[in-house]
Formats: sequence, C-alpha cells, structure tokens
Amino acid sequence: MSDCIIAPSILSANFAKLGEEVDNVIAAGADWVHFDVMDNHYVPNLTIGPMVCQALRKHGVTAPIDVHLMVSPVDRIVPDFAEAGASIISFHPEASQHVHRTIQLIKSHGCKAGLVLNPATPVDVLDWVLDDLDMVLLMSVNPGFGGQAFIPSTLEKLRRVREKIDASGRAIRLEIDGGVKADNIADIAAAGADTFVAGSAIFNAPDYAEVIGLMRKAVAA
Ligand code: DX5
Ligand code: ZN
Repeated sequence: MSDCIIAPSILSANFAKLGEEVDNVIAAGADWVHFDVMDNHYVPNLTIGPMVCQALRKHGVTAPIDVHLMVSPVDRIVPDFAEAGASIISFHPEASQHVHRTIQLIKSHGCKAGLVLNPATPVDVLDWVLDDLDMVLLMSVNPGFGGQAFIPSTLEKLRRVREKIDASGRAIRLEIDGGVKADNIADIAAAGADTFVAGSAIFNAPDYAEVIGLMRKAVAA
C-alpha cells in the first residue's frame, strides 16, 4: 500500500482562527488539508469557497489542499479553485452532467482529479473513468456534516474499490471520509484505504499531534 496520508477536515476547525488552526494541524503531523465545500443545494449545509482557499495560501500554507466539492453544478467553480491554490479537486458524479469532461477540466487547470462516491453510489461509476483519476474518495457518511458515525458497509466497498485500483496498475489514491477515528482507522486501512480524512476526531481533540500519532500507529500496525 502507498504511504499513509492524514488529511484533517477543516470543517471541524475553529473558523475564527483558521490560518492558525491549519498551521497547528500541519505542525502536528498532518499531510494534507481537507477543504469541504458545501453549497446548500447539493448538500444541506453551506461552508467556504475559493476566497478562503486563497487566503490560506496567502497566509503561507504550503501543504497540499484537498478540495472536496459538494456543489452542483461543479464545472464553473473548478477554475476558481485551481487559481486559488487547490492541489486536488474531487467532485460527486451526481453533481456533474458530464463526469469525464469535469475530470479533464480539473486536470487542464493543473490540479489532480478525484471522484467521490456517496454511501449509496455503486462502484461501477468508476469503470470508464478510473484511468483518468488520481484519487477515489469513498464517503463513509452521507455528505453535509462533520461528526457523523462511520457506515460499516463502507469497509466492503473499500475492498472492492481497492481491487479495481490494484487491477488498474496505476498509483490512484483511495481516500475515506466520514467518521474516521483512531479506534476504527486500522480496519479502514486493512480494507484498502491509504488516505484518511478526519475532522471531529482531530479538531475536537485537545492534542492534535497525539491523535494523528495514534492514527499513524494504528495504520502501520
Ligand atoms: C462530510 C465531509 C467530511 C467531514 C468529516 O460531508 O465531507 O470531510 O468533515 O468529518 P468527521 O471526520 O467528523 O466525520
Ligand atoms: Zn470531505
């Protein structure tokens, strides 16, 4: 398996001091910044957009910014995020009219492209686009909110997607998002994930470094 990537979701950070929160979580050992974009249309919640991504870059954040778009339509916001400093842009197939076109659009703007599968989205949505993807993101909760419980059937789904990725022979990351904690991350890694989003488990903890350390240790065990 590829190296373990820990991507704290800033959805659970203190937005009143976001730059400092991101600095602290990177100093605590996080690899990426997971940036949840919600539009109160595709999902019933409203968060942050390209201006905040750009503000983090201006603040001095150099870590990869992993933008998770929960917006519909997708295409018109992609160039803005690329310009704002996004590294990876992932979107939901249900939110794009032309999935292959959106993937190419993301890549043509110099970002890596990911496709996100909701808990009820079948894995065969990957079949004709997997070779164009840099990452598959499996949702282990329904998108829209932090702090929800991990849906257990996602473990079987991870195994199926891991098989497809291995069969492709390409270095495609397999990210998991929702309800990831230090006490379930070992099972999630064993099922095939190599990239772990965690929001409440990290930002609600008193010591970010401690929980990130526990997560890494559990993945490596
Ligand atoms: C949910 C978001 C997640 C969320 C995860 O729609 O995509 O990234 O912040 O939060 P936790 O880790 O608390 O489940
Ligand atoms: Zn997310």
